[in-house]
Amino acid sequence: MNIVLLGAPGAGKGTQAQKLVAEFGFAHISTGDLLRAAIKDGSKLGARAKGYMDSGKLVPDALVIDLVKERLAADDAQEGFILDGFPRNTSQAVVLDSELADMGRTLDAALLVDVEPDVIIERLSSRRTCRDCGYTAPAGVDVCPRCSGQMYQRDDDKPETIQQRLDVYQTQTAPLVEYYKGHSILKEVKGDRPVDEVYADVKALLGL
Ligand code: AP5
Ligand code: ZN
Repeated sequence: MNIVLLGAPGAGKGTQAQKLVAEFGFAHISTGDLLRAAIKDGSKLGARAKGYMDSGKLVPDALVIDLVKERLAADDAQEGFILDGFPRNTSQAVVLDSELADMGRTLDAALLVDVEPDVIIERLSSRRTCRDCGYTAPAGVDVCPRCSGQMYQRDDDKPETIQQRLDVYQTQTAPLVEYYKGHSILKEVKGDRPVDEVYADVKALLGL
């Protein structure tokens, strides 16, 4: 199954993706995680992306599109993938459709995790992320339960940057809801409920 997760920053895309991956073994393709890994590795791509990410802006399409193409072609993505954080604007969505068409593949669902902005600000301000594997959890978890890596607060999870990310989501990413409605693959889940309740609905919506 090939799935796109849509939703504002902090809506719980990564959290739901982690659960789907653990239960069904889909490849998790998170452009945010890929970019943070590039920064950590000290690569040229990471150096170019860092300023945009720290200030809550989207990095230029060209930087992320190649990363996604490479991951879609990898062995572990052939049996199904979850795209988390991509596409982020209409031009990325168009590139994705054409790349998948070239591979003889299609998207089965675009799942919107819907959460109000006030809940998002609270969640992101208290989020901690694993430096090594990208696992996320609320503040208070200091050691990653998945890989024992160190949990830290992302630079873009500071209050002034969170607002900028929400603005970017509204102007550039939210139009994708209509885009996928137009392709008849949009599904929607209310994300401001306990993680396992959201997950139960996610599975039902995806027919899993
Ligand atoms: P990215 O890493 O994709 O960040 P994001 O979309 O802003 O999403 P987040 O990871 O912040 O949130 P999430 O929805 O995954 O929430 P999570 O599950 O962690 O992107 C970062 C930056 O990279 C961008 O700003 C941009 O610069 C760049 N970038 C990335 N992709 C790009 C692209 N395609 N094009 C251009 N630039 C790109 O949950 C949040 C918190 O809430 C956690 O603490 C979690 O434990 C908690 N939580 C989750 N669900 C629940 C629940 N149901 N109840 C209570 N708490 C919950
Ligand atoms: Zn980890």
